[in-house]
Amino acid sequence: MMKKFLVLPGDGIGREVCEAALPVLDLLNLPIQCEFGEIGWDFWCQEGNAIPAATWHQIDMADAVLLGAISSKGKQAAEAELVPTLQGRGLRYTSPVLQLRQRLELFANVRPVWRLAGQGMPFRCAIIRENTEGLYAGFDRQGVPESLSDWLTHPNLARSGLDQAAISVRLQTRFGLERLFRYAFDYAGANGYSRVTLADKPNVLRESGQFATDIFLGIAAHYAGIEAEICNVDAVALDLVRQPQRFGVIVAENLLGDILSDLAAGVMGGLGLAPSANIGHGRAYFEPVHGSAPDIAGSGRANPAAMFLTIGMALRHMGFAAAADRIDGAVLQVVRQGRCLTPDLGGASTTQDMASAILQAVTRPRHALRASIVCVGEELLVGRVLNSNAAEIGRRLSEAGYVVTSQHTCPDRLPAIQQALADGLGQSDLVVVNGGLGPTPDDLTRHAVAAVLQRSLEFDATTMANIETRMTGYGLKMDPSNRVQALFPQGSRILANPNGTAAGFELDWQACRLLVLPGPPRECLPMLDRVLAAAPKHPAAPSYCWTLLGVVESDIAAIVGRILAEYGAAVDVSYLWRYPYVDVRLSVFDERAAPCVIELERRFAAHLVSRDGVSAMTQLLPLLAGRRWLIDDGITQQAFTNRLPASNDTSALDVVRMKALANRPLAAPWEGVLSMSCQVQIGARQGKYRLDVPHRGPEVLEYACEFLAWSILRNLDAFLVSLKSEPCL
Ligand code: NAD
Ligand code: IPM
Ligand code: MN
Repeated sequence: MMKKFLVLPGDGIGREVCEAALPVLDLLNLPIQCEFGEIGWDFWCQEGNAIPAATWHQIDMADAVLLGAISSKGKQAAEAELVPTLQGRGLRYTSPVLQLRQRLELFANVRPVWRLAGQGMPFRCAIIRENTEGLYAGFDRQGVPESLSDWLTHPNLARSGLDQAAISVRLQTRFGLERLFRYAFDYAGANGYSRVTLADKPNVLRESGQFATDIFLGIAAHYAGIEAEICNVDAVALDLVRQPQRFGVIVAENLLGDILSDLAAGVMGGLGLAPSANIGHGRAYFEPVHGSAPDIAGSGRANPAAMFLTIGMALRHMGFAAAADRIDGAVLQVVRQGRCLTPDLGGASTTQDMASAILQAVTRPRHALRASIVCVGEELLVGRVLNSNAAEIGRRLSEAGYVVTSQHTCPDRLPAIQQALADGLGQSDLVVVNGGLGPTPDDLTRHAVAAVLQRSLEFDATTMANIETRMTGYGLKMDPSNRVQALFPQGSRILANPNGTAAGFELDWQACRLLVLPGPPRECLPMLDRVLAAAPKHPAAPSYCWTLLGVVESDIAAIVGRILAEYGAAVDVSYLWRYPYVDVRLSVFDERAAPCVIELERRFAAHLVSRDGVSAMTQLLPLLAGRRWLIDDGITQQAFTNRLPASNDTSALDVVRMKALANRPLAAPWEGVLSMSCQVQIGARQGKYRLDVPHRGPEVLEYACEFLAWSILRNLDAFLVSLKSEPCL
């Protein structure tokens, strides 16, 4: 059945993120009819209510309402900006969001948070905020009524006088709290949370705190499988920053929940990422946690992600859970990929650009798995041991189809290893940890894993027996210190190490997998190979590599940038400058990128040396074997023959004339342009080539050799076949 979705964009960035994100509804092609309504400050000024009557009518007819954001101003501005005919009538401005929440009885404000961006452990929790009473109940006034003066006694009140004071009342009712707590426990059960935490201040607000606590425990008693916890709200704020993974559902009074939810948004990566839902019995409206952000409104800097996720929450509410999952997945993909982010997330993209990337990810999700590498050992940091594992593990993971997103190398210190583990787990599907599994006191990796995942270390007798057999087999005495190598975090799958005493282990944590291996390459690499061979295969995105000679990195990036923008293709591009070559790599996530690849081919053809990063010289060596060849440029020949067994046969048939260093001596001053030209004659085939390069230092000889090798290659069939393209003469 067609659902009615009412959109109230509001003002400021509310309008901007609505406009950027709403096209997702067209893409998802759902039976939803979208309608727009008016709301906001202008209506207060003109009509004395920020929600016009017609909008209330639309709200009543809708299955769900989406709100952008609305700016509100203080008490004085509210009176001053009213049209003169409405002034002095005692009209009171109430924020439209509060009106919606109160009038529709949307008692539960649900604000889910999870690790989307930033550093630290993965976490997922939800703040459920009381939405109709508490400190937002509306009992907020300047001046203390005489009737309360018997109860409201305070030395400062006596000093100021009743009219020089202000009071706000935190109203909490059994009716309000029972329905809220019931909702919180139901929500926990439905969303797989095993703990509900009441964040309040019972140690200070002793009466209202006790009242809420009793009701909370009364409701909790009906939910046997869910732990009920009561905490001081300040301690909850601390833990949200330090260990958010400990929470499930956090339930709080209106103002406390307001504050906690902005804090939690900060922990999940920023207000630009946090969605929310206002839920009542049969009614609901949805809005990002953020406001109208006047400081950035109109600048194209607003992050649209929170709005996308909010639309996802609305879709889930209307029964379109699969569509909501697609939006969540697309936002996660774009945020984690990190290439198209608004400034609040450290990027330079506009609202529209980031929204386009999310929309693209909704239609063409990328299922590439992400991996992080953590190497442990002081010796790696100071260069005493070359960290070849980082490169080898990275290569193997990438060949197995993973996108390797980070390598951390850390000293043998618990806090450093824990931080590296947490960051890896928070960003990746797989974390490979390497080193620190030995028997000495500085081998701390297993302890760090146990601490981060909050698991105990358990003794494994089989591993102990294996260690003993191995050591006694070598005639070594078993030392008590070896016992630590048989300790594994609870729930580990132990990985045998045929080449050493340190067994590895594997653990799952939420959706991530942690693979912990010993440090020595001949131990860890075969273990990793075995694990990867047994794992399901993840085909990597199709990728292209062009190794180019005679181009400047920045020029080529500008050309590629223009072509990519023109085709709007979903690709990742990276550049590697390794003198004298530039490698351009492209991963393609979109079949529509094909014409873009053809265009890049065309632009690169004149500079293409290989498609796999291999240099011209490396390609030439095997092809020259057995030929008789001659180079008649002295200096180049000397450098060239240093790399190739000389053929001093003066009756050579293949003649290469190299004028590489013709226009300048190969000596300081290193400045200006070196013009190289080369004439190749191989059998009946002839070619003439030219290249101008910066005369930057003695390494230009390297350039000359690669140019010479490339010139020769372009007359050899084997090379032309390998490139599958015509040479450019
Ligand atoms: P705010 O959420 O508008 O802004 C707080 C900070 O976060 C600002 O620095 C802002 O630039 C940044 N920010 C917020 N959303 C962002 C996004 N999507 N991308 C990048 N940065 C973002 O809160 P505020 O400054 O306290 O309030 C501004 C106005 O919004 C006020 O008039 C307030 O009443 C109103 N407000 C409305 C709602 C709502 O309509 N639901 C919610 C909160 C605040
Ligand atoms: C929110 C906002 C609102 C609130 C304001 C705009 C009234 O900050 O939704 O968090 O305080 O509830
Ligand atoms: Mn708020």
